[in-house]
Amino acid sequence: MGRVQKGLLLLLGALVLIQFIQPVRNQGGQAYPADISRIYPMPENVQGILKTSCYDCHSNNTNYPWYANIQPGAWWLASHISKGKDELNFNEFGNYSSRKKQSKLKAIASSIKDVTMPISSYTLIHRNAKLSRTEQELILDWVEKTKDSLSQIK
Ligand code: HEC
Repeated sequence: MGRVQKGLLLLLGALVLIQFIQPVRNQGGQAYPADISRIYPMPENVQGILKTSCYDCHSNNTNYPWYANIQPGAWWLASHISKGKDELNFNEFGNYSSRKKQSKLKAIASSIKDVTMPISSYTLIHRNAKLSRTEQELILDWVEKTKDSLSQIK
């Protein structure tokens, strides 16, 4: 066997082996009383957009796509989920301090304005998660209203 064939065989072996190492899945399954949609008035269309475009990485429940069954797809997703949840978890939003709520709402607006979220490598595969102009505006309007209502409470 030549060098190239040996190399290819090794690579294939490694690809097969890594299929056995699957990360733990992000599937909480229960209802979340502190979910952002329960602590603020949130129209259903806004809830729907967040669920489709953000919840895979920013909640305790990921809707797993086909590529999560193969490596390295599963690792790629798992790393986004763990970092995304650390930064912002919509299911736990109600447990944040009022200061953190305010700053996260601002960060959400910036991420939409700067089109940094959802991550572009994600929308490449999840076409329906990409926000249309109307969807962006719906979220931005909602964030504005919610921020204002919060500052009145203080
Ligand atoms: C594929 C996974 C993924 C999706 C989908 C996703 N995010 Fe993120 N998000 C991340 C990761 C990872 C980080 C942290 C690292 C970074 O900033 O890139 C993050 C960070 C953020 C932050 C920064 C928090 C802070 O305090 O600075 C905000 C805000 C945010 N995301 C909002 C959203 C919104 C809104 C959506 C939906 C429109 C969304 N994300 C969709 C993975 C994702």
